[in-house]
Amino acid sequence: MDRLEEIREKISQCDDRIIEELIIRMNCMKDLIEYKKQTGMQFIQPEQDKEQENVLKNKVKDQEFEDEILHIFKYIMKNSRKVQTKSLLDYNIFLIGFMGAGKSTVADGLEEMLEMERIEMDTLIAEKQGMSIPQIFEEYGEAFFRDLESNLLIELQKKSQAIVSCGGGIVMRPENAEHMKKHGRVVLLSASPKTIFERVKDSKERPILNDNMNVAFIEELMEKRREKYLATADIIVETDGKNVVEICEEIISRLVVLDRN
Ligand code: S3P
Repeated sequence: MDRLEEIREKISQCDDRIIEELIIRMNCMKDLIEYKKQTGMQFIQPEQDKEQENVLKNKVKDQEFEDEILHIFKYIMKNSRKVQTKSLLDYNIFLIGFMGAGKSTVADGLEEMLEMERIEMDTLIAEKQGMSIPQIFEEYGEAFFRDLESNLLIELQKKSQAIVSCGGGIVMRPENAEHMKKHGRVVLLSASPKTIFERVKDSKERPILNDNMNVAFIEELMEKRREKYLATADIIVETDGKNVVEICEEIISRLVVLDRN
C-alpha cells in the first residue's frame, strides 16, 4: 500500500468508528426520551443542555481542533434533538389562536427546541401571491384570502412533522378545523383581550383590526370566535404572564400526556 492509500484507509476507518459511535449516541437519546416519558420528567431542560455544553467545551479546551470539534458537536446536538422529537411528537403541530396570541413567537421557540420544520401560513400566502396580507384583503376581499388559507392547508397535507403557525381566522371555516385535527395536533394559544391589544396595537399588518384597534372590539371578536377555537383545540395554553420557553415546555409536556392517554 502506498502512503496515500494508507492515509485514506486510516480516514475511512475513522469514519467507521464515528458512525458506530454516532449510532450508539443516537440510541442513547432514544433511551433518554423513554426514561423521561416513563418518569414524567421535563423533556426540555435548558440548564442541563448548558451544563452539557460546558462539559464538552472543557473536554476539547486547548486542543488543536477545538473550534472545529465544537462546530461538529453543534450538529450532533441539533440532530440529537431531531431524534428526540421523532420519538416524542411524530406529527404536525398546528398553532391556532387570536391575532397576537403569540403563534409566530411560539413557533420560533418550538422550532429551536424541537428542530422541526416551521411554517408560517400568512408568510407563505403573501409570498405566493406576491402581495402583503393587507394588500390581499384590500384588493380581493376577505373571502378570497380565506380561500387561499384553506387551499394552503390542503397543500400542507403532505407534511408529517411540521410546526404550522396559522392565521388567527383559520378556525372560521369548519373544513379547516377538520383538516387540522385530521393531520396533526391543534394547540390553542390564548391571551386576554388587553394583552392582545398591547401586542398588536402598533401593527399595520392586521386588516381585520384596521379601523377597530381597541380592547372592546378585540373582546367582541374573540367572543364570536371562542367556540370555534375551543372546538378545534386539542390543548389550550394560556400565554399571559409566561415567557416563550415556559409556553413551549408546557405545550410539549401536555402533548406528550395527551398522546399517552
Ligand atoms: C386574521 C389573522 C391574521 C391574518 C389575517 C386575518 C384573522 O393572522 O391571517 O389578517 O382573521 O384573525 P395573525 O393571527 O397571525 O395576525
